[in-house]
Amino acid sequence: MQIPVSGQIIQDAINKLHISNLEKATIREIVAVSHRIEQQIGVEFIHMEMGVPGLPPAEIGVKAEIEALREGKAAIYPTIDGLASLKNEASRFIQAFVDLNVAPEGCVPAVGSMQGTFASFLTACQCDTQKDTILFIDPGFPVQKQQATVLGYQYESFDVYDFRGEKLREKLESYLKKGNIACMIYSNPNNPAWFCLKDNELQIIGELATKYDAILLEDLAYFAMDFRKDLGKPFEAPFQASVGRYTDNYILLISASKIFSYAGQRIGIAAISDKLYHREYEGLTKRYGSGTFGSVFIHRILYALSSGTSHTAQYALAAMFKAASDGKFAFLEDIKEYGKRANRLKHIFLKHGFQLVYDNDLGEELADGFYFTVKYPGLSGGELVAKLLPYGVSAISLSTTGSGQEGIRVCTSFIKDHQYDLLDERLAVFHSNR
Ligand SMILES: Cc1ncc(COP(=O)(O)O)c(C=O)c1O
Repeated sequence: MQIPVSGQIIQDAINKLHISNLEKATIREIVAVSHRIEQQIGVEFIHMEMGVPGLPPAEIGVKAEIEALREGKAAIYPTIDGLASLKNEASRFIQAFVDLNVAPEGCVPAVGSMQGTFASFLTACQCDTQKDTILFIDPGFPVQKQQATVLGYQYESFDVYDFRGEKLREKLESYLKKGNIACMIYSNPNNPAWFCLKDNELQIIGELATKYDAILLEDLAYFAMDFRKDLGKPFEAPFQASVGRYTDNYILLISASKIFSYAGQRIGIAAISDKLYHREYEGLTKRYGSGTFGSVFIHRILYALSSGTSHTAQYALAAMFKAASDGKFAFLEDIKEYGKRANRLKHIFLKHGFQLVYDNDLGEELADGFYFTVKYPGLSGGELVAKLLPYGVSAISLSTTGSGQEGIRVCTSFIKDHQYDLLDERLAVFHSNR
């Protein structure tokens, strides 16, 4: 097999798109390079860069949304704190699958969990003038740092790779004891590395959040997708792990994008713990006159950002939550497909000289899921991105995610059935040419 794309064509695309460094290229930039080349010379790329759901949207949501549109809901502003039925069902869903009690009033729809984190950063960093910094427990979703930058907030971060288990305590405390951390964020399962923090680690995070009075943003974009366990039975253990068992200072961010393949409708839930919702902060009182964390989050911040979340998408999400909690919609069954894809893809990469980067949770092999991470000996993450492009394989460098490891993130969602053989063939040539 010949190398499908010449170095010159790749360089031209990079120059045309004004990308100075592939090491730091964003997901969108890598997508732009590969799409440009595909259009220019007609070579099929194996796209592993974008975390877009590769499955159809959940039918229950689509039906409920169409019905709401037919009933004329599109004409009416939604209430900012969310539709009552959605708030009730979100609270019930959390009870059913996390085994945590969050009152409906604290379950607030947002325009994707992206807006949920944006509003959370904003509110959390206004509570106390001494606390003006966000701590990212990395690796993480790069756009969230972009949100901090847009807001003009300071942030600190560290790669948790070398600080799993009990080591996490000292590392976290080294930041928290400075007294400037307003909030901390991590995703579980993790984007990009797909590790899952264990209960003892969540306990450390929770205890320290209480001790240093910092707010935890637990990003559950990949809710219950730790496919090693059966987390899909409502009101039955095992449950989605959560820091909410160990502290009251938390907001859970639950996105409809991946679990229900509903990314296009931009809806998620920020579930604010009861205690946090009702807490008053001096910084908020000074700025807004009065208000608790929850009321400022809703009636000041979300009001100013978008005046609520798409009315009809709220009907869809309420219906999907309800059906899942009623045991009538086994939402994990469809998305297990990503785990199957990861399993096949990992085998192909490992067969051709690649190695896993993040490969265990305190000794337990990682689940197969939406993402995994690989490296190739002797190449940095950026070099690997650049060296794979000529083979029509595109992915992002781990360095863009706050990881200190050299390697790339592989996203399984866009892989088509015929592309396993293609990848196998291309990586074989890549490996033999090294
Ligand atoms: C960790 C993480 N958080 C949040 C999001 C965004 O979620 P939403 O589509 O609900 O804004 C993603 C999407 O890829 C993600 O990976």
